[in-house]
Parts: sequence; structure tokens; C-alpha cells
Amino acid sequence: APERTLVLVKPDGVRRGLSGEILRRIEAKGYTLTAVELKNATPELLAQHYAEHEGKPFYAPLVEFMLSGPVLAVVAEGQGVIPGFRSLAGATDPTVAAPGTIRGDLGRDWGLKVQQNLVHGSDSPESAEREIALWFPTF
Ligand code: CMP
Repeated sequence: APERTLVLVKPDGVRRGLSGEILRRIEAKGYTLTAVELKNATPELLAQHYAEHEGKPFYAPLVEFMLSGPVLAVVAEGQGVIPGFRSLAGATDPTVAAPGTIRGDLGRDWGLKVQQNLVHGSDSPESAEREIALWFPTF
């Protein structure tokens, strides 16, 4: 089966009109967009998506942020796309993410309680399978 990852353009990215720029970078790298859908998250979906972060100090602000507006959910496909997209995204903290990356070029610290860092990308094949099933139940 082809390698697939789940990418989310988070509410900050959608709000700032960066969805096209982020999709452009994924395509320019050579990956294929297999599914793209604008969605409103729900507390139930986020509880599953972020199960590993439950109990951390940034969990509640993270969920609140992810509910603050629509999210662009994307399935991207290609050899090496899981680590490849995380490399395109850059480090979690946009202040120090390397220039050339999505977070490094387009993100910064907005002084809020959670990193508003524009994108999410699955971190392993197991996460990708689980997250694609959550965001695209009919995929
Ligand atoms: P992501 O890696 O997609 O999933 C977890 C998210 O939690 C992360 O992006 C950030 O948005 C946020 N996050 C992770 N670590 C911190 C932190 N130390 N402080 C605030 N937010 C964080």
C-alpha cells in the first residue's frame, strides 16, 4: 500500500489564508493530495486525536484552539511522506523552527497558552492509520 499521512491545517492556518500555500508546499515536494476536506472538529474527535496529550498543561488550550475555527484535513501520499511532511513542517515551536519550513517561514509566537503552529502531521505509520480513520471515517 502507498505510504500515507494525515496533515491538518490548524485553525490559525485556515484563518490566515495559508491553506493554499501549505498545500502548494506538499505538492511541490512531490506528494499527492489524496483527500482534502474543510471540517469543524468536535471535542470527541479531538479527545481521540490528542489522547496522548491528555493531562498535559497545554491540553485544554490546545483543544480550545482546535475548536476555534475550521481545520483543513488532508491525506497526503508518497514514499516517505510521514517523515517527509514532518520535515516540511519544521519544529513544533515556530519561534525556532528552521527557515524554509512551514512553521519557520509562516509561524511565530502569538503570546497565547498554546503553540499555534499552523499544521499537524502524523508521527508514525500507526498514528497515520489511526488519525486518517478518525478524520476520514469513510476513507
Ligand atoms: P502537534 O505536534 O500537532 O500536536 C500537539 C500540539 O500541542 C502541538 O502540535 C502544539 O500545537 C501543542 N503543543 C505541544 N507542545 C506544547 C507546549 N509545550 N506548549 C504549548 N503547546 C504545545
